[in-house]
Amino acid sequence: MNSKQFELLSSSKVLVTGGAGFIGSNLCETLLELNTSVICLDNFATGKRENLSAFQDNPNFTLIEGDIRNLDDCKKAVEGADYVLHEAALGSVPRSINDPITSNNVNISGFVNMLVAAKDAGVKRFVYAASSSTYGDSEALPKVEDKIGKPLSPYAITKYVNELYADIFYSTYGLDTIGLRYFNVFGRKQDPHGAYAAVIPKFVIQFMNHESPVINGDGTYSRDFTYIDNVIQMNLLALTTENKEALNEVYNTAVGDRTNLKELTQLLKEYLSEYDPEIANVEVKYGPPRAGDIPHSLASVEKAKMLLGYNPKYGIEAGLKEAVEWYYKNLIITK
Ligand SMILES: NC(=O)c1ccc[n+]([C@@H]2O[C@H](COP(=O)([O-])OP(=O)(O)OC[C@H]3O[C@@H](n4cnc5c(N)ncnc54)[C@H](O)[C@@H]3O)[C@@H](O)[C@H]2O)c1
Repeated sequence: MNSKQFELLSSSKVLVTGGAGFIGSNLCETLLELNTSVICLDNFATGKRENLSAFQDNPNFTLIEGDIRNLDDCKKAVEGADYVLHEAALGSVPRSINDPITSNNVNISGFVNMLVAAKDAGVKRFVYAASSSTYGDSEALPKVEDKIGKPLSPYAITKYVNELYADIFYSTYGLDTIGLRYFNVFGRKQDPHGAYAAVIPKFVIQFMNHESPVINGDGTYSRDFTYIDNVIQMNLLALTTENKEALNEVYNTAVGDRTNLKELTQLLKEYLSEYDPEIANVEVKYGPPRAGDIPHSLASVEKAKMLLGYNPKYGIEAGLKEAVEWYYKNLIITK
């Protein structure tokens, strides 16, 4: 990525919270490629040290092991930073249903700590990971930023509350923020293991092990699956935009296309079979729908295109091909 607009990042210092996680570590890597000084704050709750291995010795990279629930850790990490990319949170709807208190503490109290630390340090802009779960029970498609429904899970509440707090920190303290409502992000470094793994990496690994993936529901549920490189582009645009009207807004971060679970497994089978032909014979199974899941999700990305100049380069097929290749090359590392 060598857009002229991103050049200002080469003389900047960016704090990436959750920088050892899937999205955060990809952001760190891209920023370092742009010669940005990067500070990563992470407590490794779900993040991994191997996600940092490609750049941990880069002199522009600093790791601070700490917890966003601790205000002192936040203050220490944000010292001297020009910008914040706040990615640290506990993801997963089922995790928040099993343990709403921890999700609340990390995703809301931790978020407020980071806002306070960023405001006190005088950072120029606070860009944060919001979520498509904020659309809740709204059935309208495509999802447009200003029409949301009632949250369907503790996780969705935490992500919506983040947006409310960001608004208040702008109106009360003048902290410029941008929220990026991510829609089912996938790609390199996403953790395929554990009870709360996302559907794409989980299914990839199951296919690779010749185990049948289980689709929750009848396979007609659909999502706007978004490849990591589109998400990176949105973060860089949010950090560097000079359009004042673009600030203090939230944006769908997606492709604007949807794929149902049946189609997704067919694509995965097709791409994975190129590496291991036996995968073509692995059957898919069906189970009950999951609590807190919405049937369909599809974003309008018009606002991001208009105000930020967003131009998603990857559709589901190109993204899946790259992701599958990455899992094949890195399986030993991710296991
Ligand atoms: N992946 C998606 O599809 C998706 C969709 C919508 C929103 N999001 C949001 O994007 C962000 C990044 O998600 P991800 O998929 O990379 O998840 P991830 O679990 O890979 O990354 C989250 C990172 O935050 C760190 N973290 C968690 N609690 C922390 C704490 N108390 N203090 C410091 N660090 C802590 C974890 O160790 C991890 O490195 C999250 O805010 C998530 O809610 C992700």
